[in-house]
Amino acid sequence: MFNPFSLENKTILITGASSGIGRQCAIDCSKMGAKVVLIARNEERLNETRSMMEGNGHVLVCQDLTCFEKIPDIVKNIVKQIGALDGVLHCAGISNTEPLKLYGVDRLEEFFGANVFGAVMLTREICKLKNINKNGASIVFFASVAGIVGESCKSAYSMTKGALISGTRALAVEYSKKNIRVNSVSPGVIETPINAKQKYMVEPELRAQFEAKHLLGLGKTTDISNACIYLLSDASRWVTGQNLIVDGGYTVR
Ligand SMILES: NC(=O)c1ccc[n+]([C@@H]2O[C@H](COP(=O)([O-])OP(=O)(O)OC[C@H]3O[C@@H](n4cnc5c(N)ncnc54)[C@H](OP(=O)(O)O)[C@@H]3O)[C@@H](O)[C@H]2O)c1
Repeated sequence: MFNPFSLENKTILITGASSGIGRQCAIDCSKMGAKVVLIARNEERLNETRSMMEGNGHVLVCQDLTCFEKIPDIVKNIVKQIGALDGVLHCAGISNTEPLKLYGVDRLEEFFGANVFGAVMLTREICKLKNINKNGASIVFFASVAGIVGESCKSAYSMTKGALISGTRALAVEYSKKNIRVNSVSPGVIETPINAKQKYMVEPELRAQFEAKHLLGLGKTTDISNACIYLLSDASRWVTGQNLIVDGGYTVR
């Protein structure tokens, strides 16, 4: 059957695979035929994700990606175990809703460490020639509509996501020589553990306001995994340096 979105014979690394969007991406990439490397800190939840996937040969790596010095060895072991990579989804991330007055440098470093530095250091290591498929690879960073549109008390999170959107463009140019495509995806609001306790999800009035900003309602994790499958597949072979906004219309007005 004609299927330009197939991930058969591809090996995809997914960070943040223990929860929410990363978990959904792991499940759906396995259904599209990929072998998947799942990374996150919580082993029990990684195993839960594994139990929901199809196929064999997937690899679980229990790791805090802010331990930057461990990243070269992690990548080396992964490639030794499963072979060169065809794609990466950098889903791992943290969020908050706090005014800037509550931030110190430590907290900003925590946000940039988890949302930007971990993904960038992992990319740097993976994009060494021995670690990627000789035909090239597709790297996808997880940005957000918060990297494009302002919302009160989201400054630290927004700054990290804006950094990923602009870094994507620069890295797309830098890595094009190696046939590595680099894109980002910017979801609107999807109900997952990252926002389950945020006021805009739990207080009915605020939630209604937020939902109304998404012209098509809030999204589902599958809305994002489908976009990621496109960016990982050969269907997007001519797409690089882009930020794919998947937000039910949140940013159109
Ligand atoms: N949900 C939304 O509305 C939304 C909207 C826009 C963008 N996004 C972005 O989409 C991505 C996924 O979010 P989500 O909604 O799926 O959130 P989630 O359910 O909270 O998942 C976040 C994942 O990141 C992992 N993680 C966090 N810090 C880590 C670290 N230091 N090392 C390794 N793994 C780490 C967590 O795993 P462990 O705790 O097991 O380590 C978890 O698997 C994030 O980058 C988020 O900013 C989400």
